[in-house]
Amino acid sequence: MHKITLIQPDDWHLHVRNGAILNTVIAHTAQQFGRAIIMPNLNPLILTVDQALDYRAEILNALPSGSNFNPLMTLYLTKALSAEEIKKAANAEHIHAVKLYPAGATTNSDSGVSDLKGIYPILKMMEEVDLPLLIHGEVTHQESDIFDREKEFVDSSLTDIVNNFPNLRIVVEHVTTKEAVDFVLAASDKVAATITPQHLLFNRNAILAGGIRPHHYCLPIIKREHHRLALVEAATSGNPKFFLGTDSAPHLTGDKESSCGCAGCYSAYGALELYAEAFEAVDALDKLEGFASFFGADFYQLPRNTRSITLQKQPWEVPASYPVAGHTITPLKANEILNWKLLLN
Ligand code: DOR
Ligand code: ZN
Repeated sequence: MHKITLIQPDDWHLHVRNGAILNTVIAHTAQQFGRAIIMPNLNPLILTVDQALDYRAEILNALPSGSNFNPLMTLYLTKALSAEEIKKAANAEHIHAVKLYPAGATTNSDSGVSDLKGIYPILKMMEEVDLPLLIHGEVTHQESDIFDREKEFVDSSLTDIVNNFPNLRIVVEHVTTKEAVDFVLAASDKVAATITPQHLLFNRNAILAGGIRPHHYCLPIIKREHHRLALVEAATSGNPKFFLGTDSAPHLTGDKESSCGCAGCYSAYGALELYAEAFEAVDALDKLEGFASFFGADFYQLPRNTRSITLQKQPWEVPASYPVAGHTITPLKANEILNWKLLLN
């Protein structure tokens, strides 16, 4: 197969930052995707509907002219989120979800939630107004092994949330373990998951074998091979509970290539090509369209896109870096060959 045509996909988990980074990365996403769920762990945080709408305006302003990319906004969950704000969000055309970061789990999560039971009244209200909850599913105790943090969260917290709020729509973001996949499979159709390209393509050797590779470091951290295989099986199964969310998370090269490098892989420049690579490896390209273009829209109760995009088998080399106002961002698979290329209109 040398060409695949798909209904235009959407990215259901994306970081675009602001300022100079936003100006570089938004064109990459807008080239590929019709819409994206924009993460609120910005500095400053996106805590209110008005802040989210201002941020959305900044994103629209940074788009290349003529683009009809639609940023779908989210709020950052803290215990201060009021019932009034939740209702306002549920009624706002451009706000689609609330994101839960356990405090300290990842980039800009210090203001996240430290006492999950303490936010149950908020979750109750979200359940009532049918506003989806997006979860970064990792425990944060320092004594927990970093490779076990997702599984521990599933056992200790996720099960409890799902049991207490059976009608709350929940996306378990960027699942990385067989345990999380099994949890989502066993849950009701209110519970879905996103899967990133890096967790489909790599196991933990990619971070550590033969030298430390900071551009493969993200959170939740990439796990062992048997987890990767479970993720590939879920993504290519045709089960609508699993859909595309890149978690593309740009950081300046110097902030990652550091004695304490930050977490995040930059994949927006070629997200579809990376997913195509992972699906082709298990002969499942016929399952890509559902995963990339249909299931997320259905879960979010949004119309599916109508225009099409085409990927062509055409090897190309990923650049070493992308420029950002005197700095750079190093992409996932920098200097490597990708076999598929998005045909640009
Ligand atoms: O690797 C990650 N980077 N994981 C996250 O959860 C956050 C993200 C970021 O914002 O950089
Ligand atoms: Zn993320």
